[in-house]
Amino acid sequence: MKIKISNKIKAGKGALIAPIFVEDLNKTPDLYPLAIRNFIKERVKNDKFDGKDQGHVSFLSEKGLPSHLFLVGAAAKADFTATIARNLGGRVGKQVKCMKNTEVTVLLPRDLASFIGQFLEGYIMSQYDEALFKTDKKKENYNTELLHLVMPSVTKSAEQAVEKAELIAKAANYVRRLINSPANIVDSEYLTAEAKRIAKDNRHKKALLGLRDLKKMKAGGILAVNQGCKREPRMLVLEYNGGSRKEKPIVIIGKGVVFDTGGYNLKTAPGMEQMNQDMAGAATVLAIMDLVKKLKIKKNIIGIMPVVENLVNEDAYRPSDIITMLSGTTVEITNTDAEGRLILADAIHYATELKPEAIITIATLTGASFAALGHRYCALVSNNDQLRDQLQAISHEVDDLAWALPIHEDYRKEMESKIADLRNHDSNSGGGAGCTKAAAFLEKFVKNNKWCHIDIGGTAYTSRPKPYETKGATSHGLRMLIKFLES
Ligand code: BES
Ligand code: ZN
Ligand code: ZN
Repeated sequence: MKIKISNKIKAGKGALIAPIFVEDLNKTPDLYPLAIRNFIKERVKNDKFDGKDQGHVSFLSEKGLPSHLFLVGAAAKADFTATIARNLGGRVGKQVKCMKNTEVTVLLPRDLASFIGQFLEGYIMSQYDEALFKTDKKKENYNTELLHLVMPSVTKSAEQAVEKAELIAKAANYVRRLINSPANIVDSEYLTAEAKRIAKDNRHKKALLGLRDLKKMKAGGILAVNQGCKREPRMLVLEYNGGSRKEKPIVIIGKGVVFDTGGYNLKTAPGMEQMNQDMAGAATVLAIMDLVKKLKIKKNIIGIMPVVENLVNEDAYRPSDIITMLSGTTVEITNTDAEGRLILADAIHYATELKPEAIITIATLTGASFAALGHRYCALVSNNDQLRDQLQAISHEVDDLAWALPIHEDYRKEMESKIADLRNHDSNSGGGAGCTKAAAFLEKFVKNNKWCHIDIGGTAYTSRPKPYETKGATSHGLRMLIKFLES
């Protein structure tokens, strides 16, 4: 998609989008050509267009103007927010696609132009191609090819906002594509190749640890979970140095389970079907590491992705096994389906040796996070209130909503085992708090580092998409983390 910004409408084919605020119904902004102003006046009178419904379509035949005119209600200026702008971009993008317009002009009156970045994010995300593996691509693809944004005056900051929105939204679509792809295509080898490409493109330092390395270093958590899989487990490490030499790095760790059958604690059919999405954390980390340099973020950032597949065969780990983690801690396996915490714990231990400023873990770690917060809020669990509050505040700015959950001291105790140091699941419970107990397990490996855990188990994948999303992967967490790294 090609994007142009200017202060004039260019004659052309395709669609013209005219968003209208409730306050402007009777006095359309100067930005709008006279023909459109008159047209709107007529519509307001005859069609009871009230500016509230988003996506009213009309046709206008006027020389010098594109042929389809979409009047789009933009709500009231007083209530307008970045989130509404992103949703609006999504609605418009889906609508024009539906109407088979591939060339689109959007008028951005002043109050909308100040949210040009968010509008564009929504628009680009709405162009995500769902039919990833259909062979007859051409037939149904009406993605926007040329997007022309028209605003009262083109400022440097608008140009920068457009450039940034494009980077972030494309990264979000990349995350969605990785997550929505099945595990026979996006497997550990695929993610490794992506890490390699991203390292090369951005000149990041990299360590793409494989089976031999992990055995040598005794990463017992990662090795145990991958035991039932004939493909290699991985720990992918990408390092970006945008800060000064002596600045400590922020480490972001993403769960990369390319498929989670549950292991011998096998999932049931409906619970297993979507478990190709269990690498959403790792996909997010890949996208972040591909963005940090392009966004010129002035921090040292390390991305770590433990990548495994939780399968069943004669070598698979069993409930009751005792494993020794990378940290030396012993863990009694009480449930092979609680595998994410095992691979993350090894990655966390690895991170502690890098003397980090903070450690962030992002993972589809528990179904319990969905039970607690549904598919709009992900869960934050942290040992540092300031870090957690900062992430929570940012999450609201970018509509990647997050909410904090507490760890009770008793939950920490419940992760202890009678015969080993820890157990991976509070199995004789019915005790609830599955999300924070998983976090309590992770916390045992964090030592005295600042840490915040983001459980996207309920939000990474959705059956109730927002206007700019589609069913399936959302990329929830990406915008939040990028904004956090920029702050
Ligand atoms: N990958 C799942 C968590 C999950 C479930 C994410 C549903 C998204 C949707 C994780 O590995 C898992 O299976 N967790 C178990 C933990 C339990 C065995 C302690 C869960 O949430 O049921
Ligand atoms: Zn699991
Ligand atoms: Zn899992």
